[in-house]
Amino acid sequence: MDEQQWTAVVAAATRAPSIHNTQPWRFTATGDRLDLHRDHERALPVLDPTGRQQVISCGVAAEFAAVALRAAGVEAEIELLPASEDPDHLATVRAGAPREVTSADAALAEAIGRRHTERSPFLPRAVPEGLLERVEADAGPLGVWVKTVTGSDEEVATAFLVSRAEELERSSPEYLAELERWLRTDPAAVDGIPVGAVPEDDPATRPSNWLVRDFVASSRTPRTFLPAGDPAAPPPEVERPTVVLLGTEGDDRTAWLLAGRALGRLLLTATVEGLATSPLTQAPDWPATRTRMRSRLSLVGYPQMLLRMGYPSTAGGPVSGRRPVSEVLRFEPAR
Ligand SMILES: Cc1cc2nc3c(=O)[nH]c(=O)nc-3n(C[C@H](O)[C@H](O)[C@H](O)COP(=O)(O)O)c2cc1C
Repeated sequence: MDEQQWTAVVAAATRAPSIHNTQPWRFTATGDRLDLHRDHERALPVLDPTGRQQVISCGVAAEFAAVALRAAGVEAEIELLPASEDPDHLATVRAGAPREVTSADAALAEAIGRRHTERSPFLPRAVPEGLLERVEADAGPLGVWVKTVTGSDEEVATAFLVSRAEELERSSPEYLAELERWLRTDPAAVDGIPVGAVPEDDPATRPSNWLVRDFVASSRTPRTFLPAGDPAAPPPEVERPTVVLLGTEGDDRTAWLLAGRALGRLLLTATVEGLATSPLTQAPDWPATRTRMRSRLSLVGYPQMLLRMGYPSTAGGPVSGRRPVSEVLRFEPAR
């Protein structure tokens, strides 16, 4: 593998979603291996004190690197936590023998560039039959379970916990200050959440039981609610997205990386199908709401990622920036 090839692979890996778009990763390419380290400088001590969500983000990046390698005609293998003495060394992706590229490989790799977090309302249309089974079949061998939040009891309990967590967050000055540090008004910003990716939190245009994270809570001026448009018009339909929960039996770095890998697969599979997704991780953010989620949904193990999934109502592409590859990748000569 030469520098140009690794640069292309890392460009794909860094399109991975990450909590607050912190991009908490560094890569080193040495011959046929790519080492992925967590970058502590980009930590979120208030929201993510254990680093769980950043490690999940790095797991997605490792998966995207492997997908890009396979689509380039190279076998790929991911080893998790390869060096026990360095806790930040999260994964090694190894480039193997040449392989024939299948149409599925090519489709997944192509989806990397199109995938983005879509917080706007979804269309009232069910996800394709068989998709969730495929997602489960991909996640199972990684030790990750996928639960669709169905049935009114589960939906009400989960939506309540998301709202409760969102409320807790909005009332924490430390949380809001940290969030504000990662909010970006410059559309050319290379990291953080661009305000353009956050829809107006207006129940007239986004009627849903599922609150997306309010990234602009700290700068929002309290407003009186004025319904938009013709008051005689029928109210817009309440969004009913498919909501899926990914979880693991354990709750350590290996589990978080595996959850990230499964999440990466899920996001690309959904994108290939024309679906959009957005995480709703407020409830699993906090120990109290996370514990209640485990008991209210009778989960075996730990919730790692909650996502809404559905057909997008707007045609949009990625809007969040990424740091240039040269900033996150260095090359070392193979010994
Ligand atoms: C572990 C994790 C947790 C996330 N939590 C949320 C969330 O609670 N709400 C949200 O709107 N987006 C969430 N996101 C999405 C990120 O904000 C998004 O990936 C990042 O801004 C980059 O944008 P992109 O996904 O469009 O490339 C999360 C992403 C990851 C990986």
